[in-house]
Amino acid sequence: MQSNGEHRKIPDLKKLLADRSIILVSNRGPVEFEQDAAGNLETRRGGGGLVTAMTAISKEAKATWISAAMNDIERSLAHDDASVCLPDDSSSCLIKLVDIPEDIYNRYYNIISNPLLWFIHHYIWNLAYDPSISTGIHDAWHNGYVAANKLFAQAAVKESRKHRNPIIMLQDYHLFVAARYIRELSQEPFLFHFTHIPWPEPDYMRILPESMRTELLEGMLSNDMVGFQSRHYADNFLLCCETLLQCHVDWKAKTVTLHGHVVHVQTYPISIDHESLVEVGASDKVLEYEAKFMHDNEGLSLIVRTDRSDPSKNIVRGFRAFEVLLNKHPELKEKVKFLALLYPTRENIKAYNDYLDSIIATVNEINDRYKTDTWSPIHLRLEDNYLESIAALKCYDVLLVNPIYDGMNLVAKEGPVLNNKNGVLILSENAGATSELGNTSLVVSPFDIEGTAAAIYDALTMADYEKRARASTLREIVQRNNSVKWLYYQIKDIVRLEKKKVLDGI
Ligand code: F6P
Repeated sequence: MQSNGEHRKIPDLKKLLADRSIILVSNRGPVEFEQDAAGNLETRRGGGGLVTAMTAISKEAKATWISAAMNDIERSLAHDDASVCLPDDSSSCLIKLVDIPEDIYNRYYNIISNPLLWFIHHYIWNLAYDPSISTGIHDAWHNGYVAANKLFAQAAVKESRKHRNPIIMLQDYHLFVAARYIRELSQEPFLFHFTHIPWPEPDYMRILPESMRTELLEGMLSNDMVGFQSRHYADNFLLCCETLLQCHVDWKAKTVTLHGHVVHVQTYPISIDHESLVEVGASDKVLEYEAKFMHDNEGLSLIVRTDRSDPSKNIVRGFRAFEVLLNKHPELKEKVKFLALLYPTRENIKAYNDYLDSIIATVNEINDRYKTDTWSPIHLRLEDNYLESIAALKCYDVLLVNPIYDGMNLVAKEGPVLNNKNGVLILSENAGATSELGNTSLVVSPFDIEGTAAAIYDALTMADYEKRARASTLREIVQRNNSVKWLYYQIKDIVRLEKKKVLDGI
């Protein structure tokens, strides 16, 4: 864990690692490989917060990044057992792809990881109706989730055998049980799992049948160390181990012991690579998008949100809050615009498609009701366009980040670093980022539409001096941490723990 004052040092990750290698394992890799018309390999940045954080790290350490092959090009790279370099010259990271047969991948990704686990971890099941843990879900657990985790485990062990003393860093909810299968194959690597999303309380975890939740928790406890975004989520994990597995939890030392194996439970709030982000923000393409936003919205205050179109992001309630605002403050008509840059996600899952439909229907309804000849209140873009999102973050007056629950939410950190209008951040009380940024943003309950509308109004009418002060404090807080430091504290704890084990003769 980061101690006071330590944030001022620039961590030397390379020195800390010496000649050791990191093997990162995640479902989605840093880039997607595609082929252009002439057959050349092209890359496109992978989406989401995990990629945002881990990409910076791959520049600092000798790393191999293992992820799932997502298209035919990637499957053929996997078959050739190719190690591909990241396109960025400054990176020494090699990418290895795992070919997971389609029927396994579908069960693992579209049935178990999302929605079942994702919806449990974000508390978004509508429990009177869903989920029903049917035969299909039991089948998807064994023949999808567990099967895919075994394939990732095999790939990680194969790669780890090429290195001396490797550290395997498993990422996120797709890989909760992988450590168990790694341990069955190899005793050597240090195993660390980081959960990027919230960890729920035991009662909500009980949605999973006993056999599944036991397998899941025991899978996590096959690691040497596990990490979470916040103390609250780490404590929820400890509670789950204590109440659902009845294993010994040392609350002071933050350890869990299962069958004599001690697992350390730590907290590492993830951050962004703000220097690279600012560079991207100054790129020609971003400046072009920014100029267009400013031109198209001249004289208007901009409320911005940029998210995957995920039910956990609470997008519809955000629009409803805006509607309440327009109702209560008709003077704001033609003076304000809500710019929603959303990218469609997990499109093979019905709940996601239904949610996207309700986003579109809500926007149409509000626009039809309030539009004038020269103005419509919401501008909705449905596209995965990273650079356009960066441009929008540069020009918000209000940034709305109101997830139902969120592990961290990196948009809340990217916004203040990029924004050049002293814009105000509105933040859900259930986002991980709120523990760091809550004091300098306007904090709302994600369910409270009235309260969110009031917060938007307060943000739009806030005095300039207050906006300036808040914006500069937010920037300063975000800049104190970065994604390299985030990794550095993890590795530092790993090295310390290994030394202690040697001293204790374990
Ligand atoms: O931690 C959540 C995460 O893994 C992030 O990378 C990102 O927010 C999202 O999920 C990506 O989801 P997917 O890979 O399903 O598009």
